[in-house]
Amino acid sequence: MTARADFGEAGVAVVGAGLVGLGWAIVFARAGLAVRLHDTDPARLADAPARLRRSLADLAAAGLIAEAPDVVAARCTPVADLAAAVGNVDYVQESVLERTDVKRNLYTALSACLAPEAIVGSSSSGIPSSAFTQGLAIAPRCLVAHPVNPPYLAPIVELVPAEWTLPEAVDAVHGLMSRVGQHPIRVARELTGFVLNRLQGALLREAFALYEEGYCSLADIDATVSKGLGLRWAFMGPFETIDLNAPGGIGDYAARLGGLYHSIALERQDPQPWSPDLVARAEAERRQALPLEDLPSRSEWRDRRLMALAVHKRASEGQQ
Ligand SMILES: NC(=O)c1ccc[n+]([C@@H]2O[C@H](COP(=O)([O-])OP(=O)(O)OC[C@H]3O[C@@H](n4cnc5c(N)ncnc54)[C@H](O)[C@@H]3O)[C@@H](O)[C@H]2O)c1
Repeated sequence: MTARADFGEAGVAVVGAGLVGLGWAIVFARAGLAVRLHDTDPARLADAPARLRRSLADLAAAGLIAEAPDVVAARCTPVADLAAAVGNVDYVQESVLERTDVKRNLYTALSACLAPEAIVGSSSSGIPSSAFTQGLAIAPRCLVAHPVNPPYLAPIVELVPAEWTLPEAVDAVHGLMSRVGQHPIRVARELTGFVLNRLQGALLREAFALYEEGYCSLADIDATVSKGLGLRWAFMGPFETIDLNAPGGIGDYAARLGGLYHSIALERQDPQPWSPDLVARAEAERRQALPLEDLPSRSEWRDRRLMALAVHKRASEGQQ
């Protein structure tokens, strides 16, 4: 098996037409690829085109797609039968529920109907692909391709192979993701939470601990990120951040502040679960700031801000 330059060009399938599956459909379709969309829930499949068009209209309004929304949407075809959806494509982006049994049943079915060299990338947020592909004939052609929601606004994709995944399969998905405008990263081997959720988990662990110990309100911890750390993070990661924060770069930063960070790490050697009481207190504070019924409109606001940021980042490409 080789990583062909035209891998995926003949069209891809997205299995699972939920939040993330539809996001993937937009990623592939806006790049000009034909997308077959499959879901076991007929209602989900039936309203997929309308949901796609709504998101595409928002993207068009923000200037983030070059073509008319209907042109992009027309590349996506809902297909009720799994074998018909995946039978002729090189690449399948699996985006079904985050449950090992659901994914295992699907991969068993895929084993019987995939084209001989087709590759499957799973959107799995944390379940390694080895947990649902072991022993299947297609296992060497399966890996995790974990996106951030929505993938058409946040381009990062973590590629995580199982121990039996063919390196050529990882290369092929890396090439495809790059061609459709995503930013793939390679994780050498499976680990709990992959890279993205481990980084997020480290921050959440400290945020919950600071809140539980009464050092700060939830709102002030959130502001520390949204009005401070996070502003830089839209453009650079933690290593580049500290490289720029000392006159002599990262080595100088480590010499000045390495001891402080080591002391902080030593204070957190016994991580605790988020207790029900802690979560209830956090929930109450958040619900005072944002009533539950306003969550959807706030999510839409977040997506519009992300679109504005995407426009800005696109305009400043080359300066980064
Ligand atoms: N929501 C996020 O922020 C996010 C981010 C990154 C990755 N993910 C991952 O993406 C995957 C999908 O998550 P989601 O948030 O889109 O969930 P979702 O509940 O919105 O969608 C899942 C869809 O899968 C369908 N489905 C279930 N079994 C199926 C099967 N056997 N064949 C075809 N379709 C089937 C369901 O009908 C549903 O439409 C999960 O693995 C999740 O962990 C989610």
